[in-house]
Amino acid sequence: MKIVILSKGPANFSTKRLKEEALKRGHEVRIVNYAKCYVTLERGIPVVRYKGKNLSDVDVIIPRIASSLTKYGSAIVRQFEMQNVFTTTTSIALVRSRDKLRSMQLLAKAGVGIPKTVFARETADLEDVLEQVGGAPVIIKVARGTHGNGVVLAETRKAAKAVMQAFYVEGVNFLVQEFIEESAGTDIRAFVVNGKVVASMKRQSLDDDFRSNLHQGGQGTSIKLTDEERRTAQKAAKAMGLPVCGVDMMRSARGPLVLEVNSSPGFGIETVTGHNVGEKIIEYIEQTAKAGRRKDKIGA
Ligand SMILES: Nc1ncnc2c1ncn2[C@@H]1O[C@H](COP(=O)(O)OP(=O)(O)O)[C@@H](O)[C@H]1O
Ligand SMILES: [Mg+2]
Repeated sequence: MKIVILSKGPANFSTKRLKEEALKRGHEVRIVNYAKCYVTLERGIPVVRYKGKNLSDVDVIIPRIASSLTKYGSAIVRQFEMQNVFTTTTSIALVRSRDKLRSMQLLAKAGVGIPKTVFARETADLEDVLEQVGGAPVIIKVARGTHGNGVVLAETRKAAKAVMQAFYVEGVNFLVQEFIEESAGTDIRAFVVNGKVVASMKRQSLDDDFRSNLHQGGQGTSIKLTDEERRTAQKAAKAMGLPVCGVDMMRSARGPLVLEVNSSPGFGIETVTGHNVGEKIIEYIEQTAKAGRRKDKIGA
């Protein structure tokens, strides 16, 4: 098949691994910098252009869209969808996954365990907002944060209120979350392909940071999930309409709680666990792409 990886960097590890595995299985692969693609719209003739040429004759795209380019990247993905190109991540699922409020709503609705979460806007009832999540300490997150940036642990009521007020003033959407103290500094990443967990790791922050993101200096080790954790990850992937994704969970006293579902999960998990995730993704494409594009049925 003719596979296009939409990625800003051919040097990026995940991109390199995907290309390697696709080539190994006999596919044609091209890495296309979606930020440099442009779309010419005219009645009835959709085209994506890149380096002065039409990007036609593409069977499959694998979007690896940076969070800073969600909007533009999703427009390029959408254009391919309109040309009936199969995508491992649909434009709608991509946009959905980049919004923490929307994600939490969908996960809660699907019956996936999440930390108790409040989102609000007006400043009047700060006390009740805090009360709802069991009082300080609380976690406050900006709705579009990533890599642990924009996640704050407010240890006291006073601090929590000050942070919320600052966000209100700046017009930043945020959510307030119960602090999962029993496993602070540790979380679990489950890599899902075709609705199944194919690799999992634990991430542990090395200093006293409560955030375990690898981008914040967290360290990953391979782990085996419990049945409940595996089911939770799979259910979360389904609720988000993401056949390929990374589900982040925390082990809490009341079972696994999903923090977020990442639509462009990194391949560092291959190095940590020794599992070939890239191959699984290419296999998934081989099994699914021929049947054509599947409609998103999430409805939100
Ligand atoms: N409710 C919470 N309780 C305890 N720790 C949390 C909570 N939410 C997030 N964290 C920690 O902060 C990290 C980043 O949070 P996350 O919601 O994944 O945001 P980001 O999108 O920035 O990665 C998590 O990996 C976890 O270690
Ligand atoms: Mg995260």
